[in-house]
Amino acid sequence: MPPGWGSDEADAATLLDRLTLALLPLRLFLGVTFLYAGVDKLIDPTFLRVTGPGSIGSQLTEFVRVSPIAPLVQVFGLSFPVQVGFLIAVAEIAIWLGALTGLLFRLSAAAGLALSITFWLTASWATRPYYYGPDLPYAFGWLTVALAGTGDRFTIESWFRANADDDLYDDEPASPERRAVLRAGFLGLASLAVAAFAGTVGASVLGRERPGLASGSASPAPSDGSTGAAAPSASPSAGAAASPAPTAAGASQAPASGPVIARVSQLGSGRAISFADPISGDPGVLLKLADGKIVAFDAICTHAGCTVEWDPTYDLLVCPCHGAAFDPAHDAQAVAGPTSTPLSPIPIHVDTASGRITVSA
Ligand code: FES
Repeated sequence: MPPGWGSDEADAATLLDRLTLALLPLRLFLGVTFLYAGVDKLIDPTFLRVTGPGSIGSQLTEFVRVSPIAPLVQVFGLSFPVQVGFLIAVAEIAIWLGALTGLLFRLSAAAGLALSITFWLTASWATRPYYYGPDLPYAFGWLTVALAGTGDRFTIESWFRANADDDLYDDEPASPERRAVLRAGFLGLASLAVAAFAGTVGASVLGRERPGLASGSASPAPSDGSTGAAAPSASPSAGAAASPAPTAAGASQAPASGPVIARVSQLGSGRAISFADPISGDPGVLLKLADGKIVAFDAICTHAGCTVEWDPTYDLLVCPCHGAAFDPAHDAQAVAGPTSTPLSPIPIHVDTASGRITVSA
């Protein structure tokens, strides 16, 4: 017992009760958040994929670019991206279960700490200043509860001892090794069951799909049937911006190609239109700025590959994953979050006569 905590067992027990009670909200918050994170990965139709917006594959590829543990990500992550994504999701569920039940509590908290540090070294590493990143606080939260333990309070075993028939405890107690194996087996099986439930029933019940562009978005215009030329894209210049109809001056000089992604009449103030870039296949976002200029950007977040959404309240394109925000009025420069790389512009052509907007070759 630490000096100054009291001088008898009753004082120590009271202090331990207070300590575990004080840490209970943190324990529950960390556990529930990890459950949410694990289930969210399993029911997100874009996450467990090798490529594509929001996929674990694209995120790992981005981590290789920015992370100090890039060689590890390259070897152990990029070789098996879907398996790694699935393991992370199941591990997060198991960590929640350990934190909630108190089974293998310190091991679960240590796993939460290790996972949070890994996220910090990858997903949050590019965040500047560091305190904007969410993973370091999680790491210290898990470290705190791992050091404190449960004190055998608020655990499923202490609950059973207090409520179950005394006869259950008359038998020879299992050895510590056997109990550890039983606890690990229970956590593993229960975590897989929750993961399987979330990945099947949860996904179908919730009908999960990454939200497209936020409220204010309109449906893409129907294609006019012409096929897009698969020319290499992406002029990084201001070619993303085209003059609004009917002002032809300043519109993209490149010839129109590909399907119509929208019509000028669809673009109102505070509205965004999502479309699939016929050249790259990426999701794109088309906007009419306050000054009337029409711009288009690749909607793939330059941090780790999630799809940005239009926030009409702040006139920003925001990323739902780690909070990056891009200003479409200033070439989609990053104005917040863990990236400083702007969104890629998509060159467009506005036909002033017909009002059709197409992607330029
Ligand atoms: Fe991390 Fe967009 S993917 S902020």
